[in-house]
Amino acid sequence: MDFTLTEEQQMIRDSVRDFAQSEIAPIAAAHDITGEFPMDTIKQAGALGLMGIQVPEEYGGSGLDSTCFALAIEEVAAVDASHSVIMSVHNSLYCNGIIEFGTHEQKLKYVKPVASGQELAAYALTEPQSGSDAANMRSKAVLSADGSYYTINAKKSWITSGPVARFIVLFAMTDPDKGNKGATAFIIDTEKAGFARGKTEPKLGIRASATCEIELTDYKCDAADVIGKPGEGFKIAMTILDAGRVGIAAQALGIARAAYDAALQYSRDRIAFGKPIGTFQMTQAKIADMKMRLESARLLTMQAAWGKDEAKRTGGRNSLNGSMAKLYASEAAMFITHASVQIHGGMGYSKEMPIERYFRDAKITEIYEGTSEIQRMLIGRLETGLR
Ligand code: CAA
Repeated sequence: MDFTLTEEQQMIRDSVRDFAQSEIAPIAAAHDITGEFPMDTIKQAGALGLMGIQVPEEYGGSGLDSTCFALAIEEVAAVDASHSVIMSVHNSLYCNGIIEFGTHEQKLKYVKPVASGQELAAYALTEPQSGSDAANMRSKAVLSADGSYYTINAKKSWITSGPVARFIVLFAMTDPDKGNKGATAFIIDTEKAGFARGKTEPKLGIRASATCEIELTDYKCDAADVIGKPGEGFKIAMTILDAGRVGIAAQALGIARAAYDAALQYSRDRIAFGKPIGTFQMTQAKIADMKMRLESARLLTMQAAWGKDEAKRTGGRNSLNGSMAKLYASEAAMFITHASVQIHGGMGYSKEMPIERYFRDAKITEIYEGTSEIQRMLIGRLETGLR
């Protein structure tokens, strides 16, 4: 099997690595401490085409494939997980969702300004009472008598980039009696009346990525801003998440790679009992287990990225690949960052090094865009055909 990247993919990986190392790495620790949103570097990422990686050029994006997207997210996550999730949600859950399901007019109006990174975007599915059980939404949208607009009343929580987003893809029930077949996808403009932001979440990790609740009160949404058809919202939400999980897998891979590289270097440099600690079998066993997980996570992530484009070409689903990659890479990131802290000893626990940040940042990859439990359930259902 040939896993060689194309020239274009290598070029994207190398240029994103340069950008991440030169612009993001120097500010990552400070933003982790203050929790300040890294607006300047996100705008710079936009200028480099990294906020519309897969968006076709006619809608202001870079027109690249899913592998380029995953490579870019990995490179950014290897220096800062916060930047990488801001980029992943913006690219994958917002831009790609509208590109896949939206109209030409929606793409011009709502993707073009966002693909350049000049406006930021979010995705709102989760509600206070519905996280894993996403179909259990209470947010409601009621069509006007003349059919020209919906009145939306909604409360959504844990919205990545909620505090800074101009536009949001939001899901609400238009026909609550129909369960998951009664949900509809809308594009929300946060500058319109009826939109409000709630409390910002204080978080363990990815602290520079801003997360908040949002609330819509009698918000009027044009019928032209419905994505797909009324009632198709749940399937749209799930298809978007299949692709989003490739981004989270790549994020976990990047965090894991950074933690692994640091541990490897430290095991060569740190002397104990007169020798580098890398000479001890207990360190070597850790390095071996970390390396195997890292490379397995990479293979599953690349397979899922490639599978996403194949699914688009064939009209199939990429759910299994997306779930396997996200589940494996996130658990690998937890294992590898934990082992890296251990190899670094006291220095791994100190804020003088980025190792403890990698460890804190890795945890969320097992939770958002579907917990590990949900991924196991999905993989089990897809493999057995039973539920
Ligand atoms: N693609 C296409 N269709 C899909 C689909 C997919 N991936 N997944 C489900 N569907 C369809 C099913 O085929 C089914 O259609 P039919 O009735 O016509 O057969 C319909 O949708 C309902 O599916 P299920 O019966 O499987 O629904 P469920 O309620 O049993 O389970 C779930 C759904 C998989 C548990 C889902 O609720 C889920 O994925 N939960 C996790 C939610 C999640 O990931 N949230 C993340 C929030 S966003 C976020 O985290 C972003 C961030 O901040 C970084």
